[in-house]
Amino acid sequence: MAQALADAEDAFGHLLLDFLDGRRGQPLLERDDGHVGSALGPEVFFSERGTWPAEEQDVFEAVSGRVLDVDAGAGRHALEAERHGFEVLAIDISPGALEVCNRRGVRDARLLALEDVGPELGEFDTVLMMCGNFGLVGDRERALDTLRRLAGLTSSNARIVLDTVDPYVDADGSDAAYAVRNRERGRMPGQVTIRIRYGERVTPWYDLLNVSAQELAELAKETRWHVELVREDPPDIYAVLAKSARTACGRGRALPRRARRPRARSTGSPRTR
Ligand SMILES: C[S@@+](CC[C@H](N)C(=O)[O-])C[C@H]1O[C@@H](n2cnc3c(N)ncnc32)[C@H](O)[C@@H]1O
Repeated sequence: MAQALADAEDAFGHLLLDFLDGRRGQPLLERDDGHVGSALGPEVFFSERGTWPAEEQDVFEAVSGRVLDVDAGAGRHALEAERHGFEVLAIDISPGALEVCNRRGVRDARLLALEDVGPELGEFDTVLMMCGNFGLVGDRERALDTLRRLAGLTSSNARIVLDTVDPYVDADGSDAAYAVRNRERGRMPGQVTIRIRYGERVTPWYDLLNVSAQELAELAKETRWHVELVREDPPDIYAVLAKSARTACGRGRALPRRARRPRARSTGSPRTR
């Protein structure tokens, strides 16, 4: 789902526009094995910092400098960062979401996909990937590519502030079966192919990669990042990635940590949001 969405595909954008205009709708989340459930309702995307989970507020403390909000939605994180005086570029592939950002006062909101973020945008100090949207990296290889690319587009002291859903917590039978199928297909257990439906509109199918704290640490370690802070509210995982310094022999060395390393999580059955 890397291109700007056509109106008939902009299910999420219309959910946000409707809510802004006083109509509360309910989106559905469809998985490619036929599983259908409720997706998050619109309220959360308009929520103020004081109502966010404590873990989300903790990791947001790491936001500083010039900020790239990768999947801005209704702009709640962009607006909060702007309130702190930070310069923010908010991007999204949903025209409806960008209209909502603009109407709510986000100063610089652009129609752009994570996949198209490049050096022409300038250097960033913080990259935000919130509300499960670290998962927009899609799969393991693209996660590694994205983390390396973001390392090249950010300052030496940069942070990636993200959240994800632990696929090994609260899995039901269909989630477990889906994870088995993933393993058979060489995918990570937490990779889900989904689309969002809202009324007559439906997004294209896209891959979301849910990871455990341990898997996140492993992906970071293979790139130029390490987990600096992790806060868990199972199944939700909130984390801050910091850049690992290069040593003279070219191997990554961790910067001094502000918080403990993530603990390894037990494996169980994967789940989707
Ligand atoms: C669940 S919302 C999260 C919104 C916001 N981060 C928040 O926490 O309120 C996901 C957003 O990601 C956007 N999105 C999906 N794929 C994207 C991509 N490849 N690049 C940028 N944004 C994308 C969607 O249009 C949607 O607005």
